[in-house]
Amino acid sequence: MNDKFYVTTPIYYPSGRFHIGTAYTTVLADSIKQYHKLKGEESYMLTGTDEHGQKIEKKAKEANKTPKEYVDEMAKMAKELWAKMEIEYDDFIQTTEERHEKIVQKIFDRFMEQGDIYKGEYEGWYCIPCETFFTETQLVDGKCPDCGREVGLMKEESYFFNMKKYANRLLKYYEEHADFIKPEYRKNEMINNFIKPGLEDLCVTRTSFDWGIKVLKDPKHVIYVWLDALTNYITALGYLSEDDQKFKKYWPADLQIVGKDIARFHLIYWPIFLMALDLPLPKTILVHNWIMMKDGKMSKSKGNVIYPEILIERYGLDSVRYFLLREMPVSQDGIFSPEAFVERYNFDLCNDLSNLLNRTVSMVNKYFEGNIPLYNGTPNEVDKDLEEYALSQIEKFDEKWNNYEIATSIQEIWNLVARTNKYIDETMPWALAKEEQTEKLKACMYHLVENLRKIAILIKPFMKDTADNIFRQLGIQEEKMKNWENLKIYDKIENSKVIEKGEPIFMRLKAEEEVEFLKNIMKK
Ligand code: ME8
Ligand code: MG
Repeated sequence: MNDKFYVTTPIYYPSGRFHIGTAYTTVLADSIKQYHKLKGEESYMLTGTDEHGQKIEKKAKEANKTPKEYVDEMAKMAKELWAKMEIEYDDFIQTTEERHEKIVQKIFDRFMEQGDIYKGEYEGWYCIPCETFFTETQLVDGKCPDCGREVGLMKEESYFFNMKKYANRLLKYYEEHADFIKPEYRKNEMINNFIKPGLEDLCVTRTSFDWGIKVLKDPKHVIYVWLDALTNYITALGYLSEDDQKFKKYWPADLQIVGKDIARFHLIYWPIFLMALDLPLPKTILVHNWIMMKDGKMSKSKGNVIYPEILIERYGLDSVRYFLLREMPVSQDGIFSPEAFVERYNFDLCNDLSNLLNRTVSMVNKYFEGNIPLYNGTPNEVDKDLEEYALSQIEKFDEKWNNYEIATSIQEIWNLVARTNKYIDETMPWALAKEEQTEKLKACMYHLVENLRKIAILIKPFMKDTADNIFRQLGIQEEKMKNWENLKIYDKIENSKVIEKGEPIFMRLKAEEEVEFLKNIMKK
């Protein structure tokens, strides 16, 4: 185990409202951070906004604002959303901050001095929405191969970064570090599509517009947004600044999370920049796929966009976080549909989890006046079976989560929920009560409470309020009983009393009505 965990999200283009697709990366990062925190590691999460470039300059003009006014407003909006989603980031960087700009200039200078950057002339195609250069052969039907939009012809005096020089070193690094890229097929994509065919040198400055960080020694050039943006992961930690304590403590990052559309920048250019700076590379870069709608990508023009705020307001934050993580396999695209959302809500959260808690609280009240019976430590067959199952589910959860297979690791928790519900049917506490088999009835109640306590700990990284609510209803107050270190034990709850009247943590939705509601807001 590490003693620290540094995780980053991409920094977002502040070019519009964030939909649930864009929110996904950040929910994922926060949940992974919370998990490491739960395990007692010093965790640190960085997010922010990527504020330079032609695209942002255009957006600001459209909004009749100066670029800085515009990006500051957008950064504020982003922070408000993250607060609503209870994202606990430790730092939020805006690339227009001085602490970032100054260091980017230093880095650029150093690359020039080292001969990694040389002056030349760029002639080729540029896609503004993607802020990406393409050669003629890379275009698809004359359009951007990434987003399918029109590209513009560009001819400018430019500086170039000598990527070719590092290609072999990068390949070797991939080979020797099996955990560097997850999932693994992304590595093969990079090798086959970009590195093997021959890495092109990267154009790293522009002269035809203004909104960017100027090259100190040649100020008619502004630094290419991607070179500017990628370095945020270290400038935010104080790299090359007077106070670089955080950098020393947290770099290299343990995990950098990026969407599939920006994999190339993070798996090729970013590691090469770091090599050129003589810095260690992040331990893992996790590439996740996209949240799609039934009719393809989410877009305003298609009228299929869904924003997180409205879901949170109506269904509560935890159900949204649960849905995003549970429904979207990291390594494949996931689909958001109103039907799937309502189904997960009603089945997983309401039928399975909420009912388990409710039944447990009401039985402990009915049979033991709310007092959780003490455990005598000698489980009978059926209890033992349940204990073993729970412990093996915890192992599975942990292993998958550590490998960032988040959706399936959550599935393992819900298998435990289902198994615990089944345990009630197997033990038939109502029959035990009738037959006055008090010891067995005690053991049964004890195990139900214990499993719910374990489930609450396991969901805490991504459903904090629900976890707290479960602890509260079970009457578990001691902090140490809510933590990882006491997750695997079965005999420590003492003198606890469940609340007198249980409250459902999730109430069944009227499925058809809610599906209609969601379809309507998507059209708006
Ligand atoms: O790319 N599902 O910013 P961005 C899942 N500024 N993820 C999605 C998504 C969807 N439907 N739509 C977008 C940028 N994303 C750059 C990053 S980092 C140095 C610079 C993800 O605002 C997308 O894959 O366009 C990316 O990871 C993130 O949202 C921000 O995208
Ligand atoms: Mg994008």
